[in-house]
Amino acid sequence: MKISAIIMAVVSLLFFVSTTMAQPSPEQLIGQFQKALMKELKQGLQQGPTQAIKVCQIKAPEIAAQLSTDQIAIGRSTTRLRNPDNQAPHWVAEILDGYQTGTPIKESQTVDLLNGKQGYIKPIYIRQPCLKCHGTTIAPDIAAALNEYYPNDQATGYKAGDFRGVFWVETQTN
Ligand code: HEC
Repeated sequence: MKISAIIMAVVSLLFFVSTTMAQPSPEQLIGQFQKALMKELKQGLQQGPTQAIKVCQIKAPEIAAQLSTDQIAIGRSTTRLRNPDNQAPHWVAEILDGYQTGTPIKESQTVDLLNGKQGYIKPIYIRQPCLKCHGTTIAPDIAAALNEYYPNDQATGYKAGDFRGVFWVETQTN
């Protein structure tokens, strides 16, 4: 009797752990994405800013792909793109437009999408360390590297505290 109770407890604990591990929340996924990006950015910066840009270009899409599955898609977007591949999905673009024009209530939000999908969006703000590559005065070597990799870069001219864009997550809920 006692043993079966213990077995039940272990089994339900394992079940709990496996389901929570299999299904990280959108907020947790964004946390993982952000942490991985910052790690690559820091490591890249140790080898110099132009190296960091190269690392960003290769690693940012790789990390997003690693975190995505059949059920989950994750990305970053903005109305002022650096990499055109970061173009927002339709539902994200709509919210970004709203952020840009209407009352700027820029909070995380969950959005019901069609076909049993759910969207989640979290705003990104510019901080001091971001200005090196997104600010108003960009050092010549960084400007040259940006120009080489991103000839249509629109992601400079920001100040600390400016709204930069969003992390977005799309999950299949059924
Ligand atoms: C070393 C230069 C560098 C620094 C510092 C930097 N970024 Fe970027 N950022 C880039 C590059 C390069 C890309 C394009 C990455 C890609 O190809 O997906 C980018 C892309 C982005 C994007 C994706 C949207 C787009 O325009 O393509 C966001 C959002 C973003 N950066 C926000 C930030 C924030 C917030 C910070 C500060 C925490 C920051 N960046 C710091 C170089 C930098």
